[in-house]
Amino acid sequence: MGLEKSIQGFQQKALEELERVSSLGELEGWRVRHLGRKSPLTRALRSLASLPLEERRAAGAAANQAKAALESHFHRRAQELKEAQFRASLEKGSLDITLPGRPVVTGRLHPTTRILREICSIFQAMGFQVVEGPEVEWDYYNFEALNIPADHPARDMWATFWVDYTDERGRHPMLLRTHTSPNQIRVMEQTRPPVRVIVPGKCYRYEATDATHESMFYQVEGLAVDKGITLANLKGTLYEFARRLFGEDRQARFRCDYFPFVEPGMEMAIDCLVCRGQGCRLCGGSGWIEILGAGMVHPDVLRRVDYDPDIYSGFAFGLGVERIPMLRYGIDDIRLFYSNDLRFLRQF
Ligand code: DAH
Repeated sequence: MGLEKSIQGFQQKALEELERVSSLGELEGWRVRHLGRKSPLTRALRSLASLPLEERRAAGAAANQAKAALESHFHRRAQELKEAQFRASLEKGSLDITLPGRPVVTGRLHPTTRILREICSIFQAMGFQVVEGPEVEWDYYNFEALNIPADHPARDMWATFWVDYTDERGRHPMLLRTHTSPNQIRVMEQTRPPVRVIVPGKCYRYEATDATHESMFYQVEGLAVDKGITLANLKGTLYEFARRLFGEDRQARFRCDYFPFVEPGMEMAIDCLVCRGQGCRLCGGSGWIEILGAGMVHPDVLRRVDYDPDIYSGFAFGLGVERIPMLRYGIDDIRLFYSNDLRFLRQF
């Protein structure tokens, strides 16, 4: 009976004191005094064992109830004090909630990546498959199989980075591919007609760089082989491509050109995006801008991969990629693409 009463007394006193506590530091002192190991309440709990049973029950219940009450009020008070402290610091101005956030820097796609995706999706919509090939290539695929044997003067069309290597069996002519055309051979070696692929990828040329030449650049190769493929298919496909990429009213011009792996060979131009054919600085006064080389796959190329040229025919084309964003965005120097100048890259 006596202990139970005094427990209620401790509790009341502690709760009164709690309301006068005005800082988190004081609160910790309060906790030690009233809930700590040497607090009257803890002592009372410890002394329960020596009481007669009846009294022990009543006092035990009172002690547990007091402990629970003190603990729950302790947590409430802690919360109140923390909030008060936060409000006070806001008022003092140490936290300026009107300060604008720091902008999060987001990455963006490289202009080349964007245009490649656009080109691929146009051809994919027309039923072409996208494949890739190696950047380090055998002389055989880059030249030999494309009707350009070792002594052929057309080799001068492609200034080449040679990376030949020698082993016990001799010297192996290897190079950084100068165009994506070797993939025509690689693809045809691996499938039978009908073939409809495009091959995007990096190419390399051993040339002095200037505003329109880079030693690394991208091309997209195209190849379609089947029974009855004609020059009309080539023109129709590429004309449609140009309109989808550059706009419905685009004009296209095809003129004869020479590439050893096609017969006939041609170059395709579109009417100038700036002057629409009138002649301006961008198109060098001609009104036309060349965007790709193309032609009907040479019968010797077909024979080399065991396609019978009496049964099958095909067209091929090779498109210079950087040209396109240069035309579209008025970029006047190809070297900007791969010199990692963020001021340039962030514009896209
Ligand atoms: N590979 C040629 C070049 O880089 C471009 C080319 C011309 C590709 C005619 C072709 C083609 O597929 O038929 O200059």
